[in-house]
Amino acid sequence: MITLSIIKADTGGYVGHSAVHPAMMAEARREIERAKGSSLIIDGRVASCGDDVSLIMTHVYGPDAGLIHSFAWDTFQATTRIARELGLYGAGQDLLSDAFSGNLRGMGPGYAELEFEERPSEPVICFLADKTEPGAWNLPLYKIFADPFNTAGLVIDEKMHAGFAFEVYDLFEDKRIVFDCPADLYDMLMYIGAPARYVVHGVHSKTLGHPAAATSTQRLSLIAGKYVGKDDPVMIVRCQSGLPAVGEVLEPFAFPHTVAGAMRGSHHMPLLPVAVADAHTTRFDGPPRVVALGFQVHEGRLVGPRDLFDDPAFDRARAQANEMADYFRRHGPFEPHRLPLEDLEYTTMSELTRRLGHRWTPITTEVATPA
Ligand code: 13P
Ligand code: 13P
Ligand code: MG
Ligand code: MG
Ligand code: MG
Ligand code: MG
Repeated sequence: MITLSIIKADTGGYVGHSAVHPAMMAEARREIERAKGSSLIIDGRVASCGDDVSLIMTHVYGPDAGLIHSFAWDTFQATTRIARELGLYGAGQDLLSDAFSGNLRGMGPGYAELEFEERPSEPVICFLADKTEPGAWNLPLYKIFADPFNTAGLVIDEKMHAGFAFEVYDLFEDKRIVFDCPADLYDMLMYIGAPARYVVHGVHSKTLGHPAAATSTQRLSLIAGKYVGKDDPVMIVRCQSGLPAVGEVLEPFAFPHTVAGAMRGSHHMPLLPVAVADAHTTRFDGPPRVVALGFQVHEGRLVGPRDLFDDPAFDRARAQANEMADYFRRHGPFEPHRLPLEDLEYTTMSELTRRLGHRWTPITTEVATPA
């Protein structure tokens, strides 16, 4: 068995929240090379989307392994030191704890991990997004693993026809449930259609019994109890041979669906699929972006990546996303561009309630008639 882990954190932005500084990337790459040299990991890559650094690693220790998580923690401390030296924005932003204890759960960094028996050919896609939250994967995961209009294999591949099991977390109550799809589809959609609260954490093939997908499902604001930016998510999806084909996994991103995030983590905007060269945020601290890094995993080695959205086939999605961004922006401070009050990451409401409370008087049924 091998484990593919993506562990990510925002340890400082260059400029503002827009990108990661090259010196931080170089430092993370040095750490990954050292970890390979000492055989802690089999292989590793460093990638970024917006201001978040992702460590993509293969190893034999399984998910939630202390050795791997503490290596990632130390690496993020090292990139934070560089961010401090350069005065970058929000240095150490996602490192919410002072000391490492056991694993990264509840400490700020996000992670998606899949443990599996490597197949003779093992195509995987690592998705990295910035300026949004883990629930942003709900719609694409539904389309990839449950929608026959997206994924032809659900209808015509014997190994996919029985469907997939979705593990969904309730982030507010710290509970989980497994939906057996397609039988439970309508029940599941009632929940995952509310992605601020219900998030698909993983998907399993019912026929093969294999894990097929994993997401980073943490919610920073619930961990920290205050605004600390969005928990810009990552996701791993395995492909082919009884799992969705690479093209079926990419297909949902041809529709730039609307996600929560962008400016101050508090707005709806379309999710823009981009090449690695465009994986930084600009307009209104967005639009939220996603990159897709394709690998063949072989004997634990990461053969790749291929930059899968670096392709004219996604130009239409990008054009549509830009039109949608114009449309949303023109709403300014109005919903549904601005998030509903309970989902705002920044708010002046408690201060306003204190200051204006006495000016709010009961609405009486009596109409005052002029004398
Ligand atoms: P596999 O069953 O070999 O994965 O074939 C599916 C495919 O690649 C069609 O696009
Ligand atoms: P990040 O979570 O990417 O740091 O974004 C913070 C923000 O508020 C952007 O406007
Ligand atoms: Mg940031
Ligand atoms: Mg970010
Ligand atoms: Mg963030
Ligand atoms: Mg860039």
